[in-house]
Amino acid sequence: MMHDNRSTQARQADILQAAAALAKSELEHEGSGHDWWHIHRVTELAKRIAAAEKADLFICELAALLHDLADEKLVDDPEAGMKRTENWMLENDATEEEAAHVMEIISTLSFKGGAGKPMTTLEGKVVQDADRLDAIGAIGIARTFVYSGKKGRPMYDPNIPVRQEMTPEEYRNGKDTAINHFHEKLLKLKDLLNTDSGLAIAERRHAFMEEFLERFDREWNGTDGL
Ligand code: ADP
Ligand code: NI
Repeated sequence: MMHDNRSTQARQADILQAAAALAKSELEHEGSGHDWWHIHRVTELAKRIAAAEKADLFICELAALLHDLADEKLVDDPEAGMKRTENWMLENDATEEEAAHVMEIISTLSFKGGAGKPMTTLEGKVVQDADRLDAIGAIGIARTFVYSGKKGRPMYDPNIPVRQEMTPEEYRNGKDTAINHFHEKLLKLKDLLNTDSGLAIAERRHAFMEEFLERFDREWNGTDGL
């Protein structure tokens, strides 16, 4: 791809605009919690954290916009999805270096189960924190109930135990409830954050989830007064 004498800034602004349009059109009708508004929130969070951490804003914003396009839950063939995302960047005038960095981030992000492999660059750490932050707090609570409802799972069932260990298969398909998902995953996210700025946001969101779970328990057990 030729890089003419347009400023880097103008070139990058065009790529970001096109990436937002792509994510919007591909994920507009997505119903598993990875819809366009998830992408939008993660992108805004990534920009805030990137500024505070002095990370490369363009890389963070582009990776956030493209991070779920090849997710295993959304596309039949994640590898082909990855290749498509990379080609899309090169066709839209990203440099080889920019495209490689974004691919490194989104391929690491989408490894599921356990902590996965660690992010190697500051920009990757920023985007991973932004994605994790959107899974906790008030938004995290709402997404979890939407997801459980879509799967036809109960919000809670005292007879379904919280799972301590599970295979990726069990994680996706096992017997689960919305409340159990907090214990199996969401309450663990705060301690997995990479950056101090991400952690500062996570603390408040985490505390709100804990308060929600305590109230839920009190109301479930009838110990909330009278
Ligand atoms: P990621 O954002 O890393 O792709 P997931 O696809 O596992 O994570 O989950 C996206 C959102 O869907 C989560 O933030 C959570 O709210 C919800 N979710 C995922 N798995 C479950 C589950 N087993 N029970 C309830 N909610 C879930
Ligand atoms: Ni995401």
